[in-house]
Amino acid sequence: MLDNTKLLHGYPVVDQFTGAASIPKYQASTFNQKEILGTQDYTYTRFGNPTVAALEEGIATLEGAKFGFAFSSGMAAISTVLMLLKAGEHVILPLEVYGGTCQFVNDILPNYNIEASFVDCSDIEAVKAAVKPNTKMLYIETPSNPLLKVTDIKAMVEIAKANNLMTALDNTFMTPLYQKPLEMGVDMVIESATKFLNGHSDVVAGLLATNDEELAATLKVYQKSFGGILGVEDSWLILRGMKTMGIRMEKSVQNATAIAEYMAKHPKVKNVFYPGLASHPNHDVHMSQAANGGAVLSFELADENAVADFSAALNVPIIAVSLGGVESIVSYPRTMSHACISEEERQEQGVTQGLLRFSCGIEDTEDLLADLEAALAKVK
Ligand SMILES: Cc1ncc(COP(=O)(O)O)c(C=O)c1O
Repeated sequence: MLDNTKLLHGYPVVDQFTGAASIPKYQASTFNQKEILGTQDYTYTRFGNPTVAALEEGIATLEGAKFGFAFSSGMAAISTVLMLLKAGEHVILPLEVYGGTCQFVNDILPNYNIEASFVDCSDIEAVKAAVKPNTKMLYIETPSNPLLKVTDIKAMVEIAKANNLMTALDNTFMTPLYQKPLEMGVDMVIESATKFLNGHSDVVAGLLATNDEELAATLKVYQKSFGGILGVEDSWLILRGMKTMGIRMEKSVQNATAIAEYMAKHPKVKNVFYPGLASHPNHDVHMSQAANGGAVLSFELADENAVADFSAALNVPIIAVSLGGVESIVSYPRTMSHACISEEERQEQGVTQGLLRFSCGIEDTEDLLADLEAALAKVK
């Protein structure tokens, strides 16, 4: 079965009890136990629920995994994975890791005596050099946010295997349709399902998948004990959103490609960052591990004033934090995702005053290009 068919038939999509063509919302916190001394699949929703379980099977199917887990946010999934580390251990993460992950690592892990190093993961030698005797995990995010830097997944897995490290990969930007980290030997893959998997900017959720039985058993205990399981209503909304993910993603990627090509030629655009462009420094690595450039790009205008003129003139995209909706979303990393780091750190990472991120929705390409052209004309 290929992915588009899997999205519609590859996991429980029909209710086994009634035949309903949409998995019902089993909106119950607890379940009647037929025999007080017996066992049954569902007893209490924090431990498991049929609607949530359908989604968990869905993510496992898409990632090519044996085990799937649904969390109340991408951050709940990420923090659960990082809490697999024990006191005295060390994790390596990308320098430009998602802001929420960075904050968790900096503000919370030290309380548990867990060490971290932030490394430029597009430089594999730098990653090798950062491995210490107590390193236990390589945490990967590719392409990165907001500059779409690429990490060579297979090279990271090789380092991990040579040093007996766990690997976890945040696959939010490429999604399980376009990048399959578990097939490349990664141990755990994380998705902020808030984004493309749900696709409608109306749910916050996280998904996690693995083939490792031991890790899965531990993750199940953590999911239950931290209590960060996804709610029934939100699971149902993602099940619904996922069914159209294939065609949504196709259109979004088509828009991203057209916009990246258009922006790359525009005289008022200083830089375009999109791994689908042949001019991207890691285009070849990215295309060896992903099906296309994805639906997110960034571009740089001259300065803050240019950003203000441009965004005030836009009519089609919304201006917001987040990505992965059916509507295009423009974000300003400097005051949004990267607001909590210093101006100096932002400059070091290339998050300049002129940088904007564009998450492409499924609007008509012609309308998006016309809107961008009109907005760029307003930039002085
Ligand atoms: C790459 C990436 N990972 C993780 C997250 C966190 O996901 P959530 O907001 O669902 O907790 C985000 C959110 O923007 C993200 O962009």
